[in-house]
Amino acid sequence: MAIVLGIETSCDETGVAIVDGERRVLAQSLFSQEDEHKLYGGVVPEIAARAHLLRLDRLIERTMAEAGLDYAGLDAVAVTAGPGLIGGLMVGIVTAKAICLATGLPLVAVNHLEAHALTARLTHGLAFPYTLLLVSGGHCQLQLVEGVGRYTRLGSTIDDAVGEAFDKVAKMLGLGHPGGPLVEAAAQGGDPHRFRLPRPLYAQPHCNFSFSGLKTAVRQVILAADAVDDAFVADLCASFEAAVADCLADRTARALQRQAGTAAARQLVVAGGVAANRHIRARLQELAVAHGAGLVIPPPALCGDNGVMVAWAGIERLALGLTDGLDVAARPRWPLDPEAEPLGGAGVKA
Ligand code: KG4
Ligand code: ZN
Repeated sequence: MAIVLGIETSCDETGVAIVDGERRVLAQSLFSQEDEHKLYGGVVPEIAARAHLLRLDRLIERTMAEAGLDYAGLDAVAVTAGPGLIGGLMVGIVTAKAICLATGLPLVAVNHLEAHALTARLTHGLAFPYTLLLVSGGHCQLQLVEGVGRYTRLGSTIDDAVGEAFDKVAKMLGLGHPGGPLVEAAAQGGDPHRFRLPRPLYAQPHCNFSFSGLKTAVRQVILAADAVDDAFVADLCASFEAAVADCLADRTARALQRQAGTAAARQLVVAGGVAANRHIRARLQELAVAHGAGLVIPPPALCGDNGVMVAWAGIERLALGLTDGLDVAARPRWPLDPEAEPLGGAGVKA
């Protein structure tokens, strides 16, 4: 049975984990750089790369010790090779290559989006195919997942990613960074009907998303406000969350309808940091029931970036003999479905 070390450094989380082929997490460490970036209201790529560099060695050492393993006990090293911030990706890749060079272990270059996409197979033992809604800070897309490396894009954002919209709204309201959990907390008890916000691309025949107009609408509401008190913030966050949930549910319903009668229409998976949002989870649960589809959302701790998902993607790829040479390069852009035509905005990145 294979045991794989996974390394994640594509954004602002330094994640390391060891996972085995029986879907067991033997050890994991996660260091979030929130404090480093807070001051700037967003992730600063150079600071992120430096922070990964300062911590990664020790995190790996600690995780190996926690699992009670030495390198001879591993079968491969998996590392996120893209998409993501180039500096951070390079820190992870160089570290993984060094371990492989010194130990002779095979290297598995993992697509970060694929790591999110396959997490449900680790947590729930899910079989292919399924429909995936991937909602994170850098991405918002719907994919038909038929196997490892077998993706067909059903839709993607044409401008901002959904997590990015949460982060910008939090910034506009002075809530802090990262914004998603803060907007969710602020929305508690708020009135989701107080502000009439747009639902971009609602009821369109395709499955694409757009969030920049919604973001601008939130800005207009703030600019027009007489007073930005706690009740205003709660109501605006609740109204924004409801608009996002409506858009995600509408586009996902369209994706399931388009695939009606296929096995993929009967299984929905939601992944990525925004999948931690309770309101969105509940909304998608209703949608899945209405469409007679099963719904799998990994536990919140595995929705955001982490090393476990990379180690698991490594297990999956290794089982298929999909290892990589030590000349593999970081890929800031790396779409899951390379055949899909590029869209605008964050859609270009993925
Ligand atoms: O998957 P992830 O950890 O990193 C990327 O690959 O981008 O996603 C991070 C994003 C951030 O934009 C963050 O604000 C958002 O996920 N997020 C949330 C919640 N928790 C994290 N958005 C809404 N509600 C949440 N509870
Ligand atoms: Zn991610």
